[in-house]
Amino acid sequence: MADPQIGIYGLGTMGAALALNMADNGISIAVSNRSADPITAFMKRAEPFSAQVRALDTLEQLIEALPKPRLLLAMIPSTAPMDEFLTHVIPLLAAGDTVIDAGNADFHATRARAAQLAEHGLHFVGLGVSGGEHGARHGPSMMFGGAMDSWQGLQPILSKIAARFEGAPCVDRMGPDGAGHFVKTVHNGIEYADMQMIAEVYDLLRNGAGLAPAQIGAQFTRWNEGPLESYLFEITGTVLGYEDALGDGPVVDAILDRAGQKGTGRWTAIEAVKLGQSATMIEGAVAARAWSAEKPLRELAGAALGSDREAFSPEPDDLEAALLAARILEYAQGFRILAAASEDYDWQLDFARIAEIWRAGCIIRARLLDDIASAFRDGAPEGQLFLAPRFAEVFEVGIPALRRLVSQGIAAGYPLPVLSSALAFWDTLRQPRGTAALIQAQRDFFGRHGFDRVDGQDAHHGPWWD
Ligand code: 6PG
Repeated sequence: MADPQIGIYGLGTMGAALALNMADNGISIAVSNRSADPITAFMKRAEPFSAQVRALDTLEQLIEALPKPRLLLAMIPSTAPMDEFLTHVIPLLAAGDTVIDAGNADFHATRARAAQLAEHGLHFVGLGVSGGEHGARHGPSMMFGGAMDSWQGLQPILSKIAARFEGAPCVDRMGPDGAGHFVKTVHNGIEYADMQMIAEVYDLLRNGAGLAPAQIGAQFTRWNEGPLESYLFEITGTVLGYEDALGDGPVVDAILDRAGQKGTGRWTAIEAVKLGQSATMIEGAVAARAWSAEKPLRELAGAALGSDREAFSPEPDDLEAALLAARILEYAQGFRILAAASEDYDWQLDFARIAEIWRAGCIIRARLLDDIASAFRDGAPEGQLFLAPRFAEVFEVGIPALRRLVSQGIAAGYPLPVLSSALAFWDTLRQPRGTAALIQAQRDFFGRHGFDRVDGQDAHHGPWWD
């Protein structure tokens, strides 16, 4: 067997899937795991590619088996276990070696780890990987953050295992240290907003229009053949068609209405606010997940306050136009966070390229991303997607549709945290003069904070202080 090109430590679901993908693509790999059983199980799965795979019993042996400069992918939790792993591994490595974290990590941790390893002449790469287990095995979308040297070593490997859009691999270097993990975090924030937007429409169609899950699923499948084509619409169409294997009726009715979250959506909202931004659609989605977890409170409140709402049947065409407009706004918010971070951390993110590598393999892959990439390449005014001329016609039809949908839906009693935030974002940003003059007056009144005047005189106080 040729020298392994890369070592993979950690053969859990994602580690094993990435390793099999590499071996399947002719990349020679060395693998190991903290405990022995996953190694045995992995080698059984890797039998068809055994010429490419070498299993080592220990981390020390794995490192020894890799040619320098080493590429060592650690597929372990990106929290405390990663720090313990690094403490252990640093003395075993040599200058120029690279450790890769391909999990969902907080990009602040990735930046700190990159700085820590740099002190030893080592590189730390934060690699955002999207597409779940299936993607990791058959072609994920990947967002690399790290040193150029590491990129040069990894690029040939990642390009072979990545998802492809019209033949082009969906992977690129986003920037140094935490850039890749940050872009992946925002990807997940957009994922949250898209999923919640779908759930809001499901609520309207199920409880407002009285449609059965299978009918709603069929509607999503139809939408998936048009401009809303996307992985999340596709799977929504599929899952709503399933019956419960353990009881009667649709499986969606057998699932507890309490959504989990590992934290990336929350990180996106937190980072947006820290950057002086606000991604209200993503925040709305994070809020909806948090409130979903308060099941006992909702049961109590429903009994105390009443949970009735009125019938409401939105038109499918109206819904399609509204959803398309809202989806563009959700991406617009995501890219605004990326722009703010790019400036703060001096990453020089390439937004068109990010949209391109999201076109296949990842959870938010959508037909729209091709247009978004073109919008950035054409030079969206002020870098704002919602001002891109190519979306003007979509908004011309979609915003009135969204307005009807949100106003009628809310009037009928349906919570629409993401769809209503889309409209508030749109309506706020198209007002040259907003309401902040009154906020400034209040701030000055109670705290003597001062305000700038429209006639250009700065730092004034109101007559209440005369
Ligand atoms: C992906 C997914 C993946 C995972 C999320 C789910 O891009 O492949 O985003 O990373 O499914 O961690 O996150 P929540 O548990 O927060 O929903």
